[in-house]
Amino acid sequence: MSNQNMFDGKSIAELYANYRPRFSQEVADSIINFLRLNKSSFRLMVDVGCGSGQSTEMLAPYFNKVLALDISKHQIAEAKARNQHSHVEYVVGKAEEIPSNDRSVDLVLVGMAVTFFDLPKFFKCVQRVLRPGGCLIIFGHKSPSLRVKIGSVVVSEEHSEFATALLDAFLLSGKSSIRALHDEVYSKYSNTFRSIPSSVKSRDEVKQVCSDWNMDKMKGYIRSLDSGDVETLNFNGGLFDSRQGMQFSNFFEDQILAKTGVNSSKQVTFDLILEIFILRAVF
Ligand SMILES: C[S@@+](CC[C@H](N)C(=O)[O-])C[C@H]1O[C@@H](n2cnc3c(N)ncnc32)[C@H](O)[C@@H]1O
Repeated sequence: MSNQNMFDGKSIAELYANYRPRFSQEVADSIINFLRLNKSSFRLMVDVGCGSGQSTEMLAPYFNKVLALDISKHQIAEAKARNQHSHVEYVVGKAEEIPSNDRSVDLVLVGMAVTFFDLPKFFKCVQRVLRPGGCLIIFGHKSPSLRVKIGSVVVSEEHSEFATALLDAFLLSGKSSIRALHDEVYSKYSNTFRSIPSSVKSRDEVKQVCSDWNMDKMKGYIRSLDSGDVETLNFNGGLFDSRQGMQFSNFFEDQILAKTGVNSSKQVTFDLILEIFILRAVF
């Protein structure tokens, strides 16, 4: 799979829609407060790389009209099937060719997608479609830190550190092209921030805790992260072959059971802690 379409395909779009966390009100508040301070209008938002609609849904209630695009027809099909808002239109389209009129958009939003874009072309497009004083918001997070609980209690910090390191190892085991994308995420989009063509730009961070995920939900989340190219997982000095998403999620379960010493996955739950970083720019 190329970097461009690693989220394409019906099954990955379904996994994405079912298992990726919804963003919290605190994330929406951070963005809306920024727009209000900027005295922005709320006529039209364009969400670019909308996936199955998580980022779109978070801000749709604040805007009169929303256009949400994604390069993947499968993601757009999932988003349409789940859409609850008559003022939100989901269309297949590219970040580099936003189909909006010149100077018509109040906010261009990008959630967890900017590393896949051709940045110079995307920024040119943003400059064309934004109204004067319009905003660009780009947000993302690295893989979550995990808090492991047995019977609703954190028994040992070591369990949580182990689970977090295991998930990180899986994500960072991809081929070099995918690795480069993760490096940009792990640097909190430092290159992206630097290259935004606006002198009015800033950052914010919001912590989101998704509590009490059972093992099945955790395994679905892991499968939704699969870039399809992890051949060898390097973990704790050991090498494991062919740890692609489906197999890795089973491997993850086995490792957590062995580490915690419990007999059944039903006894284990996870809190996912997301450190969401937000880039903000005015044009
Ligand atoms: C990780 S998902 C993010 C989905 C959603 N915005 C969210 O916050 O969860 C990244 C999405 O970017 C899309 N994408 C990748 N390259 C794109 C491009 N050049 N133009 C539009 N969408 C693109 C993928 O198809 C995928 O659905």
